[in-house]
Amino acid sequence: MKRTKIKSALNNKVIGQEICLKGWVRTRRGSKNVSFIALNDGSTINNIQVVAEGEHFNEDVLKKITTGAAISVIGILVESKGSGQNVEVLAAAIEVLGEADADEYPLQPKKHSLEFLREKAHLRFRTNTFSAVFRLRHALTFAVHKFFNDKGFSNIHTPIITGADAEGAGEMFQITNLNLENIPKTDGKVDYTKDFFGSKTNLTVSGQLEAELAAMALGQVYTFGPTFRAENSNTSRHLSEFWMIEPEIAFADLDENMDLAEEFLKYCIQYCITNCADDLRFLDGRLENEEKNIKKEERSEMGLLEKLQFVIENDFVRLTYREAIDILRNSKPNKKKKFNYIIEGFGSDLQSEHERYLVEKKFKKPVIITDYPKGIKAFYMKQNEDGETVRAMDILFPQIGEIIGGSQREENLDKLVARMEEMEVDKEELWWYLETRKFGTCTHSGFGLGFERLIMFVTGMKNIRDVIPFPRTPQNADF
Ligand code: 4AD
Ligand code: MG
Repeated sequence: MKRTKIKSALNNKVIGQEICLKGWVRTRRGSKNVSFIALNDGSTINNIQVVAEGEHFNEDVLKKITTGAAISVIGILVESKGSGQNVEVLAAAIEVLGEADADEYPLQPKKHSLEFLREKAHLRFRTNTFSAVFRLRHALTFAVHKFFNDKGFSNIHTPIITGADAEGAGEMFQITNLNLENIPKTDGKVDYTKDFFGSKTNLTVSGQLEAELAAMALGQVYTFGPTFRAENSNTSRHLSEFWMIEPEIAFADLDENMDLAEEFLKYCIQYCITNCADDLRFLDGRLENEEKNIKKEERSEMGLLEKLQFVIENDFVRLTYREAIDILRNSKPNKKKKFNYIIEGFGSDLQSEHERYLVEKKFKKPVIITDYPKGIKAFYMKQNEDGETVRAMDILFPQIGEIIGGSQREENLDKLVARMEEMEVDKEELWWYLETRKFGTCTHSGFGLGFERLIMFVTGMKNIRDVIPFPRTPQNADF
């Protein structure tokens, strides 16, 4: 008999029909005469109730229907007599496909901490919270591709192994198959001509530089791939392996870039509201419960769904770095020395406490900050006339901080070369990048969205380790 997905059984409600369901047992309760099994197959956050009346089932089968077991059920879909569900399945036959020894199975029908579940990442998909998070992660992936496809962008697969350090921050994982016990050297230096690729290589920190090459022909492109950063930041917002979406648009300046980024974020959020209502409703309730346990001042002012709607309906605030610094310098926490990093003036890098102040206290909206000092930004950004700032933009979100970083690119060859020299970026290594400025250069812009940070925002999860199936962080690459 063909399997019916639980989502479809719950939605279509073909009462009286015999169906076959397969899934994992969430709970079984009941008496000697009748068992109630909550079954889930991942197609929806909602379980279906299976009613197994004692006389049809022998004790040995029922005993094996424990939390975590995989079962197959054949039965009739009926209107439910109990409260809490509209339909249920009156089981005629149950087969236990895979047992889950109750003494060993780690996920019991009670609340487990997220920290505990991180250590059980191979099983945490089977909880309500994580199944909802990963269905939303999928929905967002689809929304990203749909958004750009509908606008005529081409998806470009940029290399994962590269010689370049796109961000110039030196936070790269080196790739080599040299024997580390016996490294070939010439004049005391590692001889990379003997390495696999004949040169020094690393995992990419960004696909931007290659995306720029493609944009100079295809006009509008985007990448969506894994990126790797060997920064030793053990925070709730940093991963060593994360996914980034990087559009790059020819003939677009910073304003068009910001418009696109704002439209893009709103589109992705709206897509989830439209297509993942059940999962979001569950996560909304989860967050509300979780926040009951924290201090009132630290609670979100809005519920999850309310917050998503709010972001869609309001324009993001746009201001320059100089304006942001003025606001911060004169802010209460700065004057009272409540910030860990006191804002002195132009040149200070914004820390997450400052970003959160602007977004959560001052404006209470997403904020786009533009025109940062060149000293704290990458070499490729377009230099402003003032000689001090660049055409950068960061989008800051409540609770998340920086969700997008982008810029207009320096398209003038001489200015770009001068900046690379100042910042000691290797020109020989990036000869191909420089040639785009030599042949048919033009105004162009792009940005990078940290995919996991968007998922954090949409799901209300507070730790980035809980929105990627198998997080990689300093000292941890389990699974
Ligand atoms: O601001 P970043 O470093 O910008 C770039 O890499 C540019 N090449 C983007 C571009 O213009 N094409 O990174 C972009 C975004 C950040 O805003 C943040 O959301 C995310 O990537 N991000 C991280 N997410 C998780 N873990 C980390 N360690 C991250 N580092 C950056
Ligand atoms: Mg950035």
